Order: sequence, then structure tokens, then C-alpha cells
Amino acid sequence: MTIRTETIRDGVRLLTMDRPHRRNALDPADYQALATAIEGADSDPDVRVSVLTGAGGVFTSGNDIASFQDVQTEGAGAGMVLLRALVCARKPIIAAVEGFAIGIGTTMLLHCDFAFAGRATRFRVPFVPLGLCPEGGSSYLLPQVAGLKRATELLMLGDQFDADDAAEAGLINRAVPDGDALAVALERAERLAAAPAESVEATKLLLRRPIRDAVLQTLDVESVHFGKRRQSAEAQAAFAGFMRR
Ligand code: COA
Repeated sequence: MTIRTETIRDGVRLLTMDRPHRRNALDPADYQALATAIEGADSDPDVRVSVLTGAGGVFTSGNDIASFQDVQTEGAGAGMVLLRALVCARKPIIAAVEGFAIGIGTTMLLHCDFAFAGRATRFRVPFVPLGLCPEGGSSYLLPQVAGLKRATELLMLGDQFDADDAAEAGLINRAVPDGDALAVALERAERLAAAPAESVEATKLLLRRPIRDAVLQTLDVESVHFGKRRQSAEAQAAFAGFMRR
């Protein structure tokens, strides 16, 4: 099992991506386990808030590139199940990020209610360099939070950027000292867990309601393009290049 789920404090559930030897790359079983945990938190009265983090000083290196190489499977890939769960979640989700947040590791932050990252964290959405295209609702949400020009630069060039840039681009609340992201996230989580639960849920619903349908539609449209790109010769050559480094 590479997703650890534990209730560590009253009302606070910690979800840890735990596959450090692969920099917490996510495979189909991981996506399903995370989605199940998020949906489970919504239906569990003992959970008020989830905190999502990664083991070994890394958030996640994104989709497992080996699973992208499977051209028999159609569609965008297994990440959709996690993305839909994040978009539909009723209870707050806080991301605690260190090390690296690549691909879906960056785009999933757009759906978290709070996100904190160690200052040395490196973010990257390398979809174009990998022969892919934006996913995770990023083609809609990143221009909203970062502005169209900045979003285009990040999504088309796919360059690495740091936590201060991520904060400026609206992907995280703020950069924190390295190693402190989880502590900062848990402090916010405890405060939310102690706040009136229905009021917290209503606030999340109201904040996300105006964009929810557009985000879900974007996920579907991106998924069609991403699925085609993933099977393309350009993408398969890029995946093979990474795997044989
Ligand atoms: N999928 C599959 N395997 C991955 C992976 C991924 N997304 N990310 C890392 N790994 C594997 C590496 O192949 C390596 O395996 P090995 O020990 O058998 O050689 C191991 O994890 C460690 O990775 P390494 O690159 O040596 O670690 P690093 O700390 O130097 O670099 C990253 C970390 C995240 C910057 C780098 O691994 C990377 O760029 N990964 C790919 C990210 C990516 O493109 N994700 C998909 C986005 S759509």
C-alpha cells in the first residue's frame, strides 16, 4: 500500500503518498486509494478535514510514467478518479508540500482549500515537454489564479519554478521554511476541525460553487485531448526517454 491513511488528531485525517523510492509517483491504485480516502472522509462524521502530504520529503513526482506507457488503456489515465474526488469533496483538504510537486502534483493543488510548501520545493507542469497537454483543470483554473500570460508560460514551457513563484501564481497560500509545511498545515487543520463543521462545509461549497461545473467540464475536455496526446508518438518517445535515463 503506497497511500497511508491515519486519523492523527481529533477530526484530522492525514493522507500520505508513500512511495519515496519513486518520489511518490502515483499509479492507478494510488489514485483510487486517494479518491476513496477523500470520499470516505466526506461520509465519516469523525473527520472534519484531510491533510494531504508525501513521505520522504517529497510531495509527488506526479503520474507514474511507466503507467503512461500503456497504450492499450484509452483515455487520460487513472488520475481522473482523484481529480473528480477532489473537485466534489465537501470537507476541506489541505496540502503540505515539500521537495517536488510535478504534473498532477502541482495541478491537484488547485483543488485543495489550503496549500503550504517548503521554500525549496520545486514545482513543474511538464506537459508539453512530455508531448502531453494540460490536465487537472489547469487549463481553466491556472489562468484564473495566475493570469493568462503566466499560466501560458508555465504550461507551455514546462519550466521548474519555486515555492515563492507558486505562491505568487496562486497555487499555494505561502512558502514556509523547509520541513515546516506539514506542521503549518496541521495547525490550520486543527483550527478548522474545531470550527463549526456545517459552517466550514457551507463556506467551501459557496467558494467553489461558481466554478464547479466549469471545472468538471474542463476535466472532461482536457481528458479527451490528454488521452490522445498520451498515446501519441511524441509522448511515447518522451516517456521512453525518461524511463531509460
Ligand atoms: N514515474 C515513474 N518513476 C519515477 C517518477 C515518475 N513520475 N519520478 C521519479 N521516478 C523514479 C525514477 O525513474 C528513479 O527510478 P530509479 O531509481 O529506478 O532510477 C527514482 O524514481 C528516483 O527518481 P530520480 O529522478 O533519480 O530522483 P531525483 O530526486 O533526482 O528527481 C524528480 C526527482 C521528481 C525531479 C524526477 O524524478 C522527475 O523529473 N520525475 C518525473 C516527473 C514527471 O515528469 N512526472 C510526470 C508529469 S505529467
